[in-house]
Amino acid sequence: MDFRHQISSAGTLSSLTCDALLLVVIGDAVDAALDTPLAAALNDAVAQGDLALKAGKTLYLHRPAGIRASRLVFAVAAAPGAKAFKAAVAKGIDQLKGSGAKHVAIGLAGAGSLDDAHAEALVGAVREATYMYRHTKPSAPAASKIDKVTLLCAKADAKAVQQGLARGTAIAAGVALAREFANRPGNHCTPTFLAEQAKKLGKEFALKVEVLDRKACEKLGMGSFLAVAQGSDEPLRFIVARYDGAPKAQAPVVLVGKGITFDTGGISLKPGAEMDEMKFDMGGAASVLGTLRAIAELKPKLNLVVLIPSCDNMPSGSAVKPGDVVKSLSGQTIEILNTDAEGRLILCDALTYAERFKPAVVVDVATLTGACVVALGHHHSGLFTADDKIAAQMLAASQAGLDPCWRMPLDEEYDEGLKSNFADMANIAGRAGGAITAAMFLRRFTGKFPWAHLDIAGTAWKSGAAKGATGRPVPLLTHFVLAQVG
Ligand code: BES
Ligand code: MN
Ligand code: ZN
Repeated sequence: MDFRHQISSAGTLSSLTCDALLLVVIGDAVDAALDTPLAAALNDAVAQGDLALKAGKTLYLHRPAGIRASRLVFAVAAAPGAKAFKAAVAKGIDQLKGSGAKHVAIGLAGAGSLDDAHAEALVGAVREATYMYRHTKPSAPAASKIDKVTLLCAKADAKAVQQGLARGTAIAAGVALAREFANRPGNHCTPTFLAEQAKKLGKEFALKVEVLDRKACEKLGMGSFLAVAQGSDEPLRFIVARYDGAPKAQAPVVLVGKGITFDTGGISLKPGAEMDEMKFDMGGAASVLGTLRAIAELKPKLNLVVLIPSCDNMPSGSAVKPGDVVKSLSGQTIEILNTDAEGRLILCDALTYAERFKPAVVVDVATLTGACVVALGHHHSGLFTADDKIAAQMLAASQAGLDPCWRMPLDEEYDEGLKSNFADMANIAGRAGGAITAAMFLRRFTGKFPWAHLDIAGTAWKSGAAKGATGRPVPLLTHFVLAQVG
C-alpha cells in the first residue's frame, strides 16, 4: 500500500480527484474554512440528525452533489491530537471496507495542522484496518481494495507529515510482520520457521543473522533454556540478529523476545480452555523481529541486537519435571517448581547471553504472566524497570507510538518468594503479584546492564470473535530504539 502526502487546503477539497474522501471533523462545530459543497453536506447531515458531532461517529455519502470524489466519509474526532485522529481514521476506513474505493484521500474537515504523529497514526490505522490473515485460510475475503492513501495537509506541515508517513510505514510493516507470525498456528510457526524468517529478513535488509541449534546451546551451557525445550520433538532455535547502523564501538540496544511457539504448560499442564491461544506465546519474539524490520528500514545511527530463544513447551517422557534443578548460563541454579513458568526459564539464559554485547540497554518482551492480564487488562502492557531514566523513555515511547504501557513496581521485597531450599532460586513465587515476581526472577540475570521488561500477556493478542495478534508492542519498541540515537 502506497502512502503519500499532498498539499491542499480545506477550501479546495470538493474538487479533489480520488475514489473516496475521508474527512476528520474535530470537535462539535463545522469549520468555516471548509469549502461550500462539503460544508453544506456536513451541516445538512448534522441538522437532519444523521451525524452527531461526537467522537467515533461517522457518515458515508455516495456520489455527494458538487464533490468530485464519488465517496465521502466524515469521521468525528474528540480532539486535535494524533490519538483521536487515529481513532477517527480507523472508523472512517471501516466505512469504506466493503466499497470499491482504491485511492483514499484523508484530511481535516477544516483548518488545523497535522504533524508527524498524525501521519504515523494514519498509516497505523489504515494498515491495522486492512490487514487480513490468510496464510492458512486463503479463502478469507480481502479486507479492502484500498491501495493508495493520500494525506492532505497544509504546506507548512508537509515536511513533518512526510517524515511521519515514512516512520509510520516502517512501523506498520513491523506490526504486520509481528501479527502475521503470531497468527500462524504452532504447527506452522515453529522455532525453525522463526529462524528462517529472521534469516530472510537478514537477506532483505543486509543484517547479520546467526542461528544456534541445540548443540550450540549445550556448548554454551544454557541449561535453563534447554530444560524447557527438552520435552518437545520440535528442534529449538536461538536467534541472534543484528542491525549495525553505528560504529562497532558503540554499545548496542539489545531486544530479547520470548519465542515459545506453543505453551502447553509442560508437565504442569494448562487447562484445555483457550489453550489454542498459547500459539501466541511467541508474541515477544514476533514483536522484536517486527521492530528489527522497522529499524532496518529507517536506518537510524545506532546498533541493535535482537535475541530470540525459541522452543515449544510440551509434556512428554523427556520433559522437565516439577522439582528438577537446572543450571542456567549465568551459573545460578534454578528449581523448576512449575514447568508452566517457562518463559522466564528461556529468557534468563538469553539475558545472560546479552552480556557479551556490552549493551547500552536491554529490553525483554514476553507474554509472560496471566497475572499481568489480571493486573492491567488488555490496554496497557506491563513495564518493569528499576531505572527511572529508562522508565521515562519507555513511557514517552509508548505515548508517541500510541502503544500504552504502565510502570509496575520492582521492589526488593518481592524477591522473597523465589527462595528455594534446593537451588539458588525457584522459578515461581506465590500467586500474589505474579507479574512482579516473574520480573524479579528475570532481574536476577540483569546485573551487568541497564534493563527493562515488558509483559505483553494482555496486549499481544485479542481473544473472542476478533481473535488475532495485535503486533504490539512494535510501535512502542521502535520509538524507544529510535530515541536511543546520539
Ligand atoms: N505464556 C504464559 C502466560 C500467559 C497466560 C499469557 C495466559 C497470556 C495468557 C506463561 O508461560 C505462563 O504459563 N505463566 C504462568 C506462570 C505461573 C505458573 C507462575 C501463569 O501466568 O499462569
Ligand atoms: Mn507457561
Ligand atoms: Zn508461556
